[in-house]
Amino acid sequence: QNQFYGKSILKETDLSVNELNYLVDYGLHLKRLAKQNIHTKLLADKNIALIFEKNSTRTMSAFTTAANELGAHPVFLGKDEIHLFHKESIEDTAKVLGSMYDAIEFRGFRQSSVEALAKYSGVPVWNGLTDDWHPTQTIPDLMTIKENFGHLSGLKVAYLGDGRNNVAHSLLVGCAMAGVNVAIVSPESLQPAAEVLEIAQGYAKETGAEITITSDLATGLKDANVVTTDVWVSMGEDNWKERIDLLLPYQVNMNALAMTGHLDDGQLIVLHCLPAFHDLRTEVGKEVYVKYGLKEMEITDEVFQSQYGRQFDEAENRKHGIKAMMAATLGTQFIPKI
Ligand code: CP
Ligand code: NVA
Repeated sequence: QNQFYGKSILKETDLSVNELNYLVDYGLHLKRLAKQNIHTKLLADKNIALIFEKNSTRTMSAFTTAANELGAHPVFLGKDEIHLFHKESIEDTAKVLGSMYDAIEFRGFRQSSVEALAKYSGVPVWNGLTDDWHPTQTIPDLMTIKENFGHLSGLKVAYLGDGRNNVAHSLLVGCAMAGVNVAIVSPESLQPAAEVLEIAQGYAKETGAEITITSDLATGLKDANVVTTDVWVSMGEDNWKERIDLLLPYQVNMNALAMTGHLDDGQLIVLHCLPAFHDLRTEVGKEVYVKYGLKEMEITDEVFQSQYGRQFDEAENRKHGIKAMMAATLGTQFIPKI
C-alpha cells in the first residue's frame, strides 16, 4: 500500500519533504496524461464531500473536475446547503459525513474546523483553504515553477504584499520544503508569523533553501525568478484603507519586475493564485478603486497581461495537483515511481 494512503492534508507540514516533492512530480505526470486524454479511474466509485464555507472558483472546480476524471463522485456542500455553521457542530457533521463519504474537502475560516473534521470523520480530509493555510495552492504553484524552469532547487521566489496570510504562509513553508529560495517582501506589520517562519527555517536547514523576510523591495526582488502576490484583503477581512496604505509600495508592477534583473533573459515568471485585482472589471474592485482613487491593486494590468504571466497555467495546475493529492491519499493501488 502506498505511504500516502489514508492521510489528511491540512497543511504543508502534514507531508514530508519527499512526499511534497513527490506530489509536485505526480501532479505534472497526471497533467501530461490528461493532455493525452488518459484519465485512469484511480478513485472509481469513491464519494467525496466538498464543503465550502467561503467562496471559490478554482478550488471548487479543481476538486470537482479532478474527482470526476478519477472516477469519483464529488458532492458540493455549500454553507447555504448544509446545517454546519448554522445549527450543527463540526464534530457531529464529521461523524455523519465520515460514515457516508470516503473523503472530505473543506474550505472555510478556522483551521480548527478542518482539524476537527479530520479528527472526527475517520476519513482523509483535505484543506481547500482556511484563514491559516492553503496547501492545495502550494503544490500547483511548485508544479508551475517546475514546468517553466525544469527544476526547483536554486530558484528564487519573491512574494510581495500581505506576508501573513494563508497563501504567503503556505508558500513560505512549501518553498522551504522544496529547496526553493524564498523572499517574503512586506511591511513589518504584515510579515510572516514567527511560528510559521520557524517551521520554514527548520525545513530550510534540511533542504538548503535560503529564506529572506524583508520590507526592502530591492533586497527581496534581487535575482528572483518568480514574482508573486495575493490580494491585499483576504476573504473575511474588510480593512481596505489600512491595507492599501500599507501595501501600495509592494504592488507587483514593472518597476518591481525590473529589480529582479531578469527582465530580458527568460528567467522570470509571474504568478498569482487568483482572483486578482488588476483592473476595473469587478464590482468590489470598482467600489474600492473609486473610493481610494486606484485603478489596480496588488498587480498592475500591465504585468498581469505581460509575457511573464503564468497565472492561468497556475490555475489549471490546481486541478492536476489536487488530482495527485486525492489519488495518493485515497487510491488503494501503488502510486508510480516518476
Ligand atoms: N486560488 C484559489 O484558491 O482560488 P479560488 O478562491 O477561486 O478557489
Ligand atoms: N488570501 C486569499 C486567497 C484566495 C485564494 C484569501 O484568503 O481570500
